[in-house]
Amino acid sequence: MTTPQHKIGSGFGARSTADEVLAGIDLTGRLAIVTGGYSGIGLETTRALAKAGARVVVPARRVEQARDAVGELGEVDELDLGDLASVHAFADRFLATGRDIDIMVNSAGIMASPETRVGPGWEAQFATNHLGHFALVNRLWPRLVSAGGARVVSVSSIGHRASDIRWDDLAFERGYDKWAAYGQAKTANVLFAVELDRLGADTGVRAFALHPGGIRTPLQRHLPTEEMVALGWFAEDGTPLFEFKTPEQGAATQTWAATSPALAGMGGVYLQDCEVAEVSTDDAPGVRPYAVDQESARRLWTVSASLTGVNAFTR
Ligand SMILES: NC(=O)c1ccc[n+]([C@@H]2O[C@H](COP(=O)([O-])OP(=O)(O)OC[C@H]3O[C@@H](n4cnc5c(N)ncnc54)[C@H](OP(=O)(O)O)[C@@H]3O)[C@@H](O)[C@H]2O)c1
Repeated sequence: MTTPQHKIGSGFGARSTADEVLAGIDLTGRLAIVTGGYSGIGLETTRALAKAGARVVVPARRVEQARDAVGELGEVDELDLGDLASVHAFADRFLATGRDIDIMVNSAGIMASPETRVGPGWEAQFATNHLGHFALVNRLWPRLVSAGGARVVSVSSIGHRASDIRWDDLAFERGYDKWAAYGQAKTANVLFAVELDRLGADTGVRAFALHPGGIRTPLQRHLPTEEMVALGWFAEDGTPLFEFKTPEQGAATQTWAATSPALAGMGGVYLQDCEVAEVSTDDAPGVRPYAVDQESARRLWTVSASLTGVNAFTR
């Protein structure tokens, strides 16, 4: 059953780090896949999970750079989430190893990129952040089930508040807005967790989505300095005006989602600051109602399965 979208008193908070939420948790013998696990909060997640004993697989579109970043922390293999053929090729290689997946953290993403089309004309943020992960999880599903009690973690964002799913124009054919496109993709990340959790709960696999906080990483690569000043993140002289999390703090909520015993028996919820978030319709922190709407979650699943041609739950 879907967990109520209310705080549970986790004992952790916005400044908790990935190592702190993993204290006392032994992941020896567990396998984790961390997309985007070679940069930003993904790399920090890889580091923390590996330190706790997990074997970490890092799919990467820039394999050489990923090997340099990941080093001995995990195995790197090629995957471009914006290319369905690449997703299938990675899944084929992984499935051929016969290994189970205990933890899957979908951290890869792009933000506020210029209008870009991938595959059959898909908008790149929706394709990379949502459709690629949708196809990947569905292809790997048998190995999540066979692990027994696996968790799938969708790294969304407070940016989901910029847009609900644009059901009549998913691909922004009627005028591109980079922030609305990010918002739609990040809403899709939450709805994906809601529906995956409903579909998979009987198998013991549980799904979560989350906002990691604001962290300075290469994610901001598409934002000119003037825009970050206008957004109130920095003063004109470059001084941060916003209390950014460190990467260690930024990785904490996804690491907590992937491993915390406090979340046992729960799923299908949006987390932030190592807590279950409240639903919010105003400026207060939390998740917008449209992002956890069960009907929308089912509808997005059907649309995504139709677009990608992949669905582990077809009977
Ligand atoms: N940083 C924040 O403040 C913040 C706030 C809210 C939410 N988030 C979310 O947190 C997640 C991680 O962000 P981050 O800050 O760690 O950003 P980051 O440092 O830019 O890391 C993103 C990772 O995703 C990978 N990636 C991008 N496109 C890909 C593709 N087509 N195929 C495979 N991998 C791809 C990147 O690879 P390349 O290096 O090869 O491009 C990189 O490794 C994102 O989903 C983001 O939306 C971040």
